Amino acid sequence: MKIINFDMYKKCINSYICITHTLQEKQNFKNFKYYMSSLKKILENKISCKSVWFMRQAGRYLPEFRNIRSKHQDFIKLCLNSKLSSEITLQPINRLDVDSAIIFSDILMVPYALGQEVNFVKDQGPKLSGFDLERFLDTSEANFSKKLNPVYKSIEITRNNLDKKKSLICFIGAPWTLLVYMFDSKKNMKEIDHNKFNLKNKSIDKIIEKLIKYLCVHIKNQIDAGADVLQIFDSWAGLIPSNTVKNYCYLPNAKIVEFCKKNKIPSICFPKGLKEKYREFTNIVKPDGINIDPEIDPSWAKKKLLNVVIQGGLDPKVLLKSDEEISRAATKYLNIFKDKPYVFNLGHGLLPETDPDKVDKLIKFYRSY
Ligand code: CP3
Repeated sequence: MKIINFDMYKKCINSYICITHTLQEKQNFKNFKYYMSSLKKILENKISCKSVWFMRQAGRYLPEFRNIRSKHQDFIKLCLNSKLSSEITLQPINRLDVDSAIIFSDILMVPYALGQEVNFVKDQGPKLSGFDLERFLDTSEANFSKKLNPVYKSIEITRNNLDKKKSLICFIGAPWTLLVYMFDSKKNMKEIDHNKFNLKNKSIDKIIEKLIKYLCVHIKNQIDAGADVLQIFDSWAGLIPSNTVKNYCYLPNAKIVEFCKKNKIPSICFPKGLKEKYREFTNIVKPDGINIDPEIDPSWAKKKLLNVVIQGGLDPKVLLKSDEEISRAATKYLNIFKDKPYVFNLGHGLLPETDPDKVDKLIKFYRSY
């Protein structure tokens, strides 16, 4: 009697789907000059295939970025220079074998368009001018989109110059993470000044609602300009007190993901620092993809984070180590996720001190795995 091996069966089905998709893509390409990127294949069709990109791949660690940056002191102005920001977006694409580009911009462009001044003080991070509730509530949608128009123009330019097989990822900061900067409430890497939130407590729900509305406008504008996947950064989710995590993190992310689903935009959430609450987050928010951070045990994630594509996890600090240590750490993730649709990425952004050649070697290692 022949024993049917389930893994072999799955492989056959997967390659059948891949072949039919390739035929479909060829048809699409004829009609629309468009291929489906590996990232979209994984997120939308849950097909296992290789796909790699890195958070913060456009920026700080690249000498070609630092060269442009040294001539442009005002970071916000640089983000609003469509030609240069498109050039910076494409810098990692010209150097590294990644499957996706992420648009060069910042999560703080939204508070900027809602009336706050944003300055990047060297070695101190971003500093925003005082939050003015009336001014914030007064901003009109037309004014908001007009202020961010150069970002959309940059996406258009980039899409025209980017390989059609690659995704162009746009992004936003989730409301809580934006509020941390808008209220200047971060004491240090591990603490929030809750007084700053309490002061605004009366109007906080109103503020979050308005943020969600404008974040959705920003997403729609970015997609209309040519981006095809969205990443939602909730970088400070780990600092939310447990009793408010539902209101400040799960529900705002869920509303944004729901908006994306209605508009057929694949979304990846990154609620950094949530620890075991990653599970509850995934069940409630239901994004297409979830980026895990280095604190999350990948085997735990594989078992507990269900009906979602897992992305990333590898500690960016690993890239500061020897080639052997880098491949050992990467192998751990690749082995664990070898039989699941998985997007290779990091557990946070590339560090400024990373050697770009190490990133190149890591991608080559991934390709040959
Ligand atoms: O990923 C990319 O390559 C695309 C561009 C991108 C930037 N910021 C450009 C940038 C993205 C996706 C971001 C997201 C972002 N911005 C987040 C979420 C991701 C994360 O790292 O947690 C956050 C919290 C911010 C806010 C922000 N912007 C901070 C705290 C800082 C200063 C410190 C730092 O991280 O560099 C920035 C500045 C910033 N944003 C730079 C770049 C390339 C450095 C600017 C410089 O040269 O001074």
